[in-house]
Parts: sequence; structure tokens; C-alpha cells
Amino acid sequence: GGDGDDSGPMLGFAAVAASTGDDIVVPAGYKHAVFCRWGDPLFANSPAWKPDATNTAADQALQFGDNHDGMHFFPLSDNSSTEGLLVMNHEYINPEFFYTAAEQSGATPWSLEQVRKAQHAHGVSVAHVRLVGGNWQVVIPSRYNRRIHMNTPMQLTGPVRGHALVQTSADPAGEVSLGTVNNCGNGYTMWGTYLTCEENFNGYFGTASTTDARDANMRRYGLSSAGSGYRWHEEDERFDYALESHEPNRLGWIVEIDPFDPSSTPKKRTALGRIKHENAAQTLAKDKRVVVYMGDDQANDYVYKFVSDGKYAADNQRANANLLESGTLYVARFGAGATAGDMMGTGEWVALVPSTPIAGGSTLGAKYGDLGGILVNTRLAADDVGATKMDRPEWVTVHPDSGEVYLTLTNNSSRSTVDEANPRTANIYGQIIRWRETGQDAAALAFEWDLFVLAGNPAHTAGGLQAGSTNINADNLFNSPDGLAFDADGRLWIQTDGNFSNVGNYAGMGNNQMLVADPVTKEIRRFLVGPSGCEITGITWTPDQKFVFVNVQHPGEYGSHPRAPAVDPAADPLAFSRWPDNGAGGRPRPATVVVWREDGGKVGT
Ligand code: FEO
Ligand code: CA
Ligand code: CA
Ligand code: CA
Repeated sequence: GGDGDDSGPMLGFAAVAASTGDDIVVPAGYKHAVFCRWGDPLFANSPAWKPDATNTAADQALQFGDNHDGMHFFPLSDNSSTEGLLVMNHEYINPEFFYTAAEQSGATPWSLEQVRKAQHAHGVSVAHVRLVGGNWQVVIPSRYNRRIHMNTPMQLTGPVRGHALVQTSADPAGEVSLGTVNNCGNGYTMWGTYLTCEENFNGYFGTASTTDARDANMRRYGLSSAGSGYRWHEEDERFDYALESHEPNRLGWIVEIDPFDPSSTPKKRTALGRIKHENAAQTLAKDKRVVVYMGDDQANDYVYKFVSDGKYAADNQRANANLLESGTLYVARFGAGATAGDMMGTGEWVALVPSTPIAGGSTLGAKYGDLGGILVNTRLAADDVGATKMDRPEWVTVHPDSGEVYLTLTNNSSRSTVDEANPRTANIYGQIIRWRETGQDAAALAFEWDLFVLAGNPAHTAGGLQAGSTNINADNLFNSPDGLAFDADGRLWIQTDGNFSNVGNYAGMGNNQMLVADPVTKEIRRFLVGPSGCEITGITWTPDQKFVFVNVQHPGEYGSHPRAPAVDPAADPLAFSRWPDNGAGGRPRPATVVVWREDGGKVGT
């Protein structure tokens, strides 16, 4: 922990400058390498990745997926730091890079083959990795390597299993769901399993129906007739919500995967609620019940925690396998506390259970029928109990010693009414909030909170809340904190997914990046800068902390960047980024980057 003899200095590296290049920048004395690119092989029979995007759906099912996000390194034996299972999420696709120019959405007739190819690019990869002669490599063949995607059967477990609201024509029992999608942040458990989190599932649904078939639940989760342009509903009927109204209820969950058993069936853990899950951070209550913190990443949505019914047994890992099957889900209210305006306060956890009272003398149970009904309607139930509307909750992480919890609130351009935890209207920069549970017990029902950092730009707007908190200065400017994780020594690693225009409000911030913070002094120092258009997300370490793995997501995605290429990226995929193959790959590719110290020391120290 943070007071251990071998933990080294909290921030022992030379900060890197903001930059706008098309490469990875790491501190002096560090090196980096790229592997596990989108389309790279996982199996002996994986077809080669084709730089012209002509790989088939069948090819994609045998290759690394697209747009890597959350990730965890599971040592294979004896806490190994040279061999393990690197398990990673694949969140979404960029059609402009994923398909050929002729196949772009809207330009051509659509096909089931195109839909299946995209479905196979989502989900999770389990990769057996090994350090060989100083280079991290994927071990092929390996019995562990596995692709999990949108057509992989999964067990629905917990209170929603078999519920009327998850019964479909293909699965009238409501017990076996097909696949996982929009796998954003992740978690892992003390018993060696991986948690993948389903975020913006709504975007994969649509309908050909011209009458609005949406109920209150579908509207609250953002379903729309055109969806996000994936056009899956045109070829795969289960994604037409007018035809299969319960299919959306089978997504928006956290899925538990045993990476050590390649034949295991992933389990959807419905007791943890149905939201646009960012990540999942696990810790233990004083009495050894399992606590999982979670954010719902949408403007004005909520922060949750789950407390298991059962207790963790350190000496019997097999007994822990289904701890996430039953427990209590809570949603947070952040209050102002004794002093107004000091950006700290007190909070409480409200249980989303049938007996919880709501307006009009009713209860959640009376409104939603039973616990399963409450969980399918998690967002609506949280509305009913007056949870605090936050500035897009992204990753949450728990300090390894103190149990203090830190959460990124990435930004919220739609905020019109402020509170102390979300103190800026039209919040373009984001903040990190932290809280301490009463009695240092993660199962407590009350907590104290404060803001760890308010991102801002003092060089652009001196003074006031737009300048940010006092730990923001010209050398560590950033916006839109997203990925967040403590290392074993208590260093806080912060990853960004924000505006990388480097002009105006964002001048001096450069490309998306990763910084490291000392939670005691609150100092923040930039550690890494990513290539053009990317987001840095997902982080894990070898147990000896000599290697840190991070993911580079959507390189080349230029959005509204002022230097956006004049050419359509479908026609010239290399117009904005040539990373990581310097053009040889024909298009930018999401990939995993491993960073280490040339002298073999711990990263960050
Ligand atoms: Fe997939 Fe909220 O980031
Ligand atoms: Ca206050
Ligand atoms: Ca994210
Ligand atoms: Ca984000």
C-alpha cells in the first residue's frame, strides 16, 4: 500500500508536455510498444487482417475486436508478471474505418454479413500474453484465447432471470441472452473473474415501424427509430424494438466472465442494475460482503453501488463464484453538507428495493411489480427516489488502503442547474469527486464527499470555476476525465476522452492523455499523450508494476476538430491519423500500448 517500503515515490517521473502529434509520448526513461491491434490474430486459424477492410464477419470472429476499452491482466500462475491473460473490451466500431468505402452506412444496401461483422467486432477478447525477450506477445495457439461477442450465449442470472420483461420469441423462458455489446469500462473480482460493462446498448436498436412503439422505459434509455446508425434492426429482427420489445431489456447489464475457463458461459449479473454501465469497482465491506461501485454515463444520470447478500471467503474461492447473483442495489444522493458553496458535503445511499417509498404514498414494489421489475427499470426507479443528477459518471475506483472512492464526472454540456457536486452549468471540462463511507465501511448508508479536482483552463480564463481547482496549472491541463484507476501503491491514474482541438477553451491541452495524481497532495502530472483523434482508456498492470497496459481507442476519429481533414475518411482513412502502423496498415487501428521503464523500475515511481 501507500505506506509500504517498496512503493517508491508517488510521482517520480518527469512530466510530459501537451502535444498534438500522431504518436504515443511517454516520459524520459520510459519506452512503449504496441500489440493486440484491431484485427490481429488470436487463433492459429485467424485470417490475416486486411488493410482494405475486406475481412469478412467470419474473419472478424477470429480476430481482436475494435475500439478497445477497459482491460485487466490476470497472472497465469504464482502472481506472474511475465505471463497472463490480458482480457479487454471492444466498445464500438468506426464505420469509416471498419467498412470499405463502398459499404458505408446509407450509401449502399445493407446486408446481414455487414451486421454480423460489426457484431463480431464488439465484446471481449481473452488473450494469453507472455513476455519474450523483452517483448509482450500474444501466445498462439493457447487454450485460453477466446472471443466473446454479440452472438455469444450468456446466462441471465439474479432477480431478472426468467422475468416476463426479458422473455422473447427466441428465448421464451427469459434465461439465455445472446451476446454483449458496447463494452465500455470493466471490473474484476477478487475471485479471478472479469466484469464487462454494457454501456450505450440503445444505439444498436431501431425500428422500421412508423408509429412510435416506445414505452417509458425505452424512452428513458434513449431508444430511437434510427438508433446510432448501425442498421442491425434491418437485417436481424431482434434489434427491431417494435418486433421484439423485450430484447433491449437483455442489455445494459454487467457480465461476469471466467477467463481461465474458455468453455464457461458468461453470466449477466442483473442484481447490479440496468444502466449505461461505465465500469465496476469492487471492494469489501467490513463484514466481507462484496461492494461494487458503478456509474451510469449519461448527462444527469446517477451513481450506484451494489452490496452482496453473501460474504467473500478468501480461503474458498469456489464459494465466491455467484456472490454477484443477489444483493441490494443503492443509488446516491449528494447533499451540500453543513457549509454551502465549499464543494464538499454529505451523501446517502438509497436502496432500490420493493419496500422503498416513493411519491404519492406508493413504493417501488407497487410501481414496478417486483425486484426484477425495479432492476429492468433501474433508471426510472432512481428517478423516483430523487437521486442526484450528475455530470456523466464515468469510471470509479477504490483506494487500495483507505477505501476512499474516486469517480470521474467527465463533462455535461446540458447542465443548467448546479449543485455543489456538479458546480458548473454547461460543464465542458469535468471533475473528479471522491467520498469516504461512514466508519470506513463500504456497506455504510452515508458518506462524506469532496471534489478532488475541477478540471479547467487557468491560462484561458483566469479565476472563477472555469479556471479549475488549484491543482490545475499550465503544465497539467486536461479536459473530460474518463478512465480512472488506482495502482496497488495508491497512485491515481487519470485517462481522458475529451476535446483535443487544442484551441480556445481547450488551448494547451493537446491530444487525449493519461495523468497520474497523488491523492494526498493532490498533485497531478501528465504521463502519456496519445495519437491524433484517440481516447486513452483502460488500464492494468503486471503485479510487479513494471509494465502498465493502456488502450488507444478510436485513433483518427476527428469529430469536430478544427483541423479535420477535408477528405471523407471513408475515401482516405489515413487523412487524420496513421497510427499505429505509420500508414502501412491502410487505416488507423485501435490497439493496446504497453509502457515500461528502461531501468526496469516500477512505472510512475
Ligand atoms: Fe464508453 Fe462512458 O464511455
Ligand atoms: Ca458544502
Ligand atoms: Ca469511457
Ligand atoms: Ca467518455
